[in-house]
Amino acid sequence: MGTIEDIAGRHSTRAYTSQPVPPDVLRQIAIAGLQAPSAMNHQPWRIVVVTGPDKLALLDAAGGGNNAYTYGAPAAMLVAMPVDADPWGAIDAGILVENMALAATALGVQSCIAGMPVTSLKGPDGAARAAELGVPEGYQAVISLLLGYGAQGGQGHAIDHSKVIGL
Ligand SMILES: Cc1cc2nc3c(=O)[nH]c(=O)nc-3n(C[C@H](O)[C@H](O)[C@H](O)COP(=O)(O)O)c2cc1C
Repeated sequence: MGTIEDIAGRHSTRAYTSQPVPPDVLRQIAIAGLQAPSAMNHQPWRIVVVTGPDKLALLDAAGGGNNAYTYGAPAAMLVAMPVDADPWGAIDAGILVENMALAATALGVQSCIAGMPVTSLKGPDGAARAAELGVPEGYQAVISLLLGYGAQGGQGHAIDHSKVIGL
């Protein structure tokens, strides 16, 4: 598939099989993240790879566990940004996570960009979980990408052409 097909094919997957994503595939997805543009080329990010049920369960803590936020995905990537990131930081992180989601699609891996898992890393208990996952000191996870193989098919959201102005 080409880029246009991958963009159209990406969709949020919220049920995964237990099949792990091979490490070399995770690496390719992370590299796609590192290739994202960033304001002034600061590349302020860190990408924290989370695998294994015990570590993934930490991301469900704020939701009461039971895969509440991770949907049984066998892997997740946290995009961590400096706590004192410049005002462009949120845009940088967003581009990075979409780069990774599109790379995953191209590699036959389903995904879900998910904010709720990082809520499990906030507050005093959350900080301990973040440290356990390897989020570096001075950084905070701002968004996650769940990764795995979808347990059922899916398709992206309907698009509204009227939101394009001027064409
Ligand atoms: C910043 C951001 C945060 C999101 N957080 C969650 C989340 O916590 N859980 C979830 O299931 N989906 C989450 N989503 C996925 C959106 O719900 C999804 O992209 C939207 O419904 C459109 O569907 P699609 O991705 O299948 O096209 C998030 C998406 C974005 C961009």
